[in-house]
Amino acid sequence: MPKDKFRVLLVSVGIFGQRYLTELTSGSYDATLVGIVDVVPHLEEKYPVISQLQIPVFPTMEAFYARNAADLVIICSPIHLHTEMILCALDHGSNVLCEKPLCADPAETRQLEQAAAQKKLILSVGWQLNYDRTVQKIKQLILSGAFGPVRGGKCLHGMRRGRNYYSRNNWSGHLFVHGKPVMDSPFMNGCAHTFQMMTYLLGNTMTEAEDIVRVEGELYRANPTLENYDIAALRCFTRENVPLLYLTCHAMREEYLGRFAEMEFEAGTLIWEEGLSYRFVYRDGREPLDFGPDSSPRFQKLHDMLACMRGQRDLPLSLPHTGLPHLHAVLLAQNLPVQDIPADRINILEEKGDRFCCPKNLESVLREAYAKNALPMEIGLSLVR
Ligand SMILES: NC(=O)c1ccc[n+]([C@@H]2O[C@H](COP(=O)([O-])OP(=O)(O)OC[C@H]3O[C@@H](n4cnc5c(N)ncnc54)[C@H](O)[C@@H]3O)[C@@H](O)[C@H]2O)c1
Repeated sequence: MPKDKFRVLLVSVGIFGQRYLTELTSGSYDATLVGIVDVVPHLEEKYPVISQLQIPVFPTMEAFYARNAADLVIICSPIHLHTEMILCALDHGSNVLCEKPLCADPAETRQLEQAAAQKKLILSVGWQLNYDRTVQKIKQLILSGAFGPVRGGKCLHGMRRGRNYYSRNNWSGHLFVHGKPVMDSPFMNGCAHTFQMMTYLLGNTMTEAEDIVRVEGELYRANPTLENYDIAALRCFTRENVPLLYLTCHAMREEYLGRFAEMEFEAGTLIWEEGLSYRFVYRDGREPLDFGPDSSPRFQKLHDMLACMRGQRDLPLSLPHTGLPHLHAVLLAQNLPVQDIPADRINILEEKGDRFCCPKNLESVLREAYAKNALPMEIGLSLVR
C-alpha cells in the first residue's frame, strides 16, 4: 500500500552506514528514519543528527520490532550478520536493501532470495554500479548485440588500506567470524565493484550477471596481521570461457591505482577509467561512442528501492542472484594459495596517523600486468623474489 512516507530502519552506522544516515536525514527522500540499530553505545555523540531529529537507537532489531514497524530495512552491518538480519526483517514484513556483498555463501544467497519471494517482499543489494543509468545504457546495447560477442576484459583497481581500516572491526581481512564465512579481501569487498559490474554487463537479463566457473592466478599477503590476502592478480573465466583479468590490492604506497578497465567485444573495445567517460572504440574506425561517466548518484539504489515499493518501478536492478557470479569468483579464488611477501620486500609507510605495508615494486608490477593483459608470473614479474 503506497504511503506518503515510508518508515525506514537503518541497521548499523559504521563506515558506510553513516552515508545512509546522511542521505536519510537530508530530506531528499519520501522516507522517515524511524530507528537505528547498532551495538555502539552513545551513537548520538558521534552523530548529533540522531538527537537533533530524535531518532531512537536500539541495540537489536528485535528490540526495535517489539514496539515498531518498518516498511524498509537498510542493512549496513558486517557481512557475517547480513543473513540473520535480512531474515529477521522479512519475518517482520519489511522490505530490505542490504549492502553488498549480500553474504559469503551461495546457498544462503538463494535461500534469502526465496524467503523474500515467499513473503512477497523486495530484497535488493547495494551494488551501486548496477543502478547507474550509464551502465544500464551500455548493458542494454550489449544485450541488443550492438557490440557483438565479448572476447575478454581486464581491470586494475587498487585502494590503499592500512592498520586503521583493518583494526576498526573484527571482520576486515578475515576469512571467518564466529564460524560464519566473510572471506574479506579487496576482491570480495573493498575493490569488488568493477569486477561485479563486468559480470553484470555480460548477464543475459537486466538483473542477471554472467557466471564465473573457473579462476586462476596469484594471491599475496603483504600485511602479515591478515588472515586473508591483500593483493590479487586473477583471471576469471565465464561459462563460455571468456577471460576477465582482475588486478586489485589494498597494500600499496599510492592511495589509488585505477580503476582502469577495458572489455573487448567483436566490434571494438569498451574503455573506462575512474571519473572519466565510458567509451566504445570501434575496431573498424567508426566514430567512438561516448557514454559519459557514471551518471547516477551513489544512492540511486535507495531511490530505486523506494520507487519499487511505491509500484513505480519493477524489481530493483540488483537482486541477490545479481551478485552470485562475483561470489562464485571470490570463492574459486579462495582455493588458490596465498603467498606471503617477505618482510625485506616491503616498505612501511606511516602517514596521516595510519600505517601501510607497501610491497616495493607492487604498483609497477600491476601496471605492467594490466598493460600486457597478463598475470605477473606469466611475464616474469614477482612480488616475492
Ligand atoms: N556500497 C559500497 O560502496 C560500500 C562501501 C563500504 C562498505 N560497504 C558494505 O557495507 C557493509 C558495512 O561495511 P562497513 O565498512 O561500514 O563496516 P564497519 O565494520 O565499519 O561498520 C559496521 C557497523 O556495524 C555495527 N555492528 C556490529 N555488530 C552489530 C550488531 N550485532 N548489530 C548491529 N550493528 C552491529 C558496528 O558497530 C558498526 O557500526 C559491508 O557489507 C560492506 O561491504 C559498501
